[in-house]
Order: sequence, then structure tokens, then C-alpha cells
Amino acid sequence: MLSRHLTQINKSSISYTESLRHSLPNSQAGYRQRAHMDEAYLLPRSASIEVPLRIAVLISGGGSGLAALLRYQEAEAKTHQTVLVLADSEDAGGLEHGRSRGIETHGIPLPAFEDKVQRRLAHEELVHTALVNAEVELVVLSGYMRILTPSFVKRWKGRLVNIHPSLLPKYPGAHAHRDALADGATVSGCTVHLVDEGVDSGMILAQSEVPVHPDDIESDLQERIKKVEHVLYPDVLDRLSVGGYSV
Ligand code: GRF
Repeated sequence: MLSRHLTQINKSSISYTESLRHSLPNSQAGYRQRAHMDEAYLLPRSASIEVPLRIAVLISGGGSGLAALLRYQEAEAKTHQTVLVLADSEDAGGLEHGRSRGIETHGIPLPAFEDKVQRRLAHEELVHTALVNAEVELVVLSGYMRILTPSFVKRWKGRLVNIHPSLLPKYPGAHAHRDALADGATVSGCTVHLVDEGVDSGMILAQSEVPVHPDDIESDLQERIKKVEHVLYPDVLDRLSVGGYSV
């Protein structure tokens, strides 16, 4: 399905910005809309154990956060269920966490367009198509190492969450642990936030703190933070999936 869609995309046949502007996920019907400044977050429907929220988890690497979420969802009936796992490469080790459980799982590499902008938009179009086809209602970024374009974000805004390994607004970007250590921080942690059009700048839903020890190297801090991430993210999804946040 995805490869067929990919072959249908070529440089002349689609205006990506046009298609991005117009196509909203089918599953958007019934969402609660709230205004936040001049931006609109459309939160997911309020789900139940009988009809859990359909979640996609997007990863780039080993997917320890994905594995923790899947274990959490397996332990007992929850108001959210992972129905799709996507990575931006076929080599992402974490894809196995989805495959081994029989969850629809795809590695979607960047298409072979020379133009970087076109490549990025075409990739997001493939991701969006996979999300819509799987009737996904909430997109969970869990170690997904790509910055999403404003066009993509607008289509999922309010139904797109991320976890970042710092206490935002401190240390946004790809080097949070390094930045915290270089800054001499004595406390760091993680943040779950709604994704907006900026980088790690969306509305904060929850945070967890960890201490930073004087002799820490990046990997120490990373592992300590991952432990609290694996508890915080499922907690936030519990709350978000039953209408526990307003924006
Ligand atoms: C997590 O620390 C997350 O906060 C960051 O990337 C890491 C992903 O780790 N964005 P994993 O792939 O879930 O093990």
C-alpha cells in the first residue's frame, strides 16, 4: 500500500502544499476544539475502555519508550491502544516491538527526491497516508528524530504529542542531555507536550524531574531520564485519552 502510494507521487503530478493544506484526517470528526492564542489545538475524542483511542507511535531508534508503552497497554485494558508503529527508516531497531506483537508496523524511508523540501514533504505525505489509512486518532512521537513541517503539524495539531528529554523550555533541540551537562544543571528530566509549529515549543502536558549527578556523562543522564519517561508518557496518554486536558 505504502510503496504503491510512493510510486504514485512524482514531481509533476502533485502540489504537496496544496494537498497538505486540504486533506484533514477523517478521524477528526467529533473532536473538541479549543483556541490557544491564535493557534487551534483539536484534542482527541474522549475514549473509553470499550472504544479505546487509536494511537500511532513514531520512532527512529531502539524504541525503548514504545516498548514500555506497549507493555503498559498489554497489562490491562486501557483507554488507548497502539494500532500502528512507524519509523523513518526500515532499519530502526524498535520496529520489532510492533512486529513481534502483530501490530501494523512500517519503516518509511525518505523518498528519493533530489530536492530536500520535496523529499521532506513527500515523506510526510506517506506518513500521513499511513496514519489516515489506519484510522489513527492520536500520533505519539517517541524518539522520532525528524522535525515535522508546519503543514504536517497543522493537520494533527492537538492530536500530536512528543516526549523530550529535558524540563522544557530548558534545552530544546537534539542535544538536551549534552546541553544540560554543559550548563551545570543539577536537575533535569522529561517533558510531554503537544506539538506545535515550533521545535519543542508546544503546550506542556506534564514533566518529571531527575537529579543530575556531578560525575554524569550523557549516557548516564539519558538512561536516568528514560526511566521516568517510560512512566510519564503512559500516564499522560491515560489522561489525554479521556479528555483530561483542556487547551
Ligand atoms: C527518548 O529519550 C526521547 O525523549 C528522545 O529520544 C529517546 C528515545 O529513546 N526524544 P528510545 O528510542 O525510546 O529508546
